[in-house]
Amino acid sequence: MTSVNKPPVVTIDGPGGAGKGTVAQAVAAQLGWHFLDSGAIYRLLALSAQRAGIDASQTQQLVALAQAMNIQFPAVGKQAGQALLDGEEVSEDIRSEQCGQFASELAAQAPVRQALLDRQRQFRKAPGLVADGRDMGTVVFADAPLKFFLTASVEERARRRHNQLMQKGISATLGDLLKELKARDKRDSERTAAPLVPAEDAITVDTTDLSAEAVIEKVLKAATDCV
Ligand code: DC
Repeated sequence: MTSVNKPPVVTIDGPGGAGKGTVAQAVAAQLGWHFLDSGAIYRLLALSAQRAGIDASQTQQLVALAQAMNIQFPAVGKQAGQALLDGEEVSEDIRSEQCGQFASELAAQAPVRQALLDRQRQFRKAPGLVADGRDMGTVVFADAPLKFFLTASVEERARRRHNQLMQKGISATLGDLLKELKARDKRDSERTAAPLVPAEDAITVDTTDLSAEAVIEKVLKAATDCV
């Protein structure tokens, strides 16, 4: 599918720890394009719900919150790269495993996904967008001219998460991370609403034995060939 007169989008989907975030951010920076971390939107909703005392079964309240929440991702200036909820910097808070699991639970509900659709599509601006998530190529930007699905063995993904957390001085055991990733993979893949699957026209890349640089180069080359 191609889209006429719409800024181009490169979609990068895949399970947690496959390297999507690193690759998508680097590709967006090198192309000078906008960047959407859709997982951060689901995580901000999870944090917001948690603060409001709303649980995963309260669909109507979650939908209302998804429509009303005040979130920002400044692209320039002092706060560039931060995630803001009601003006407060919550970049670290939303990265916890607990927030990720709660986000995955909320994300399984079709009305919640629907309520977040427009917010995500608003990131599509000239000169282009690199969008990272689970359903960027299948639902949100189904007409994107270039789609990637990054994957890696669950053991390698758990190792990467473990290293990231260690670098931040956060303690976690590899065994727990493996268990949590498997639970999240299962929930994200088996849900009926926009499950985690590669788009039919996506290029699948197994990053288990690849460096981030090698994957970035591959995506950049395809993006420059395509637009
Ligand atoms: O990519 P992440 O780990 O930050 O995402 C957190 C959760 O949000 C993930 O487990 C499922 C959900 N999510 C989603 O359902 N659709 C997206 N496009 C992005 C994230």
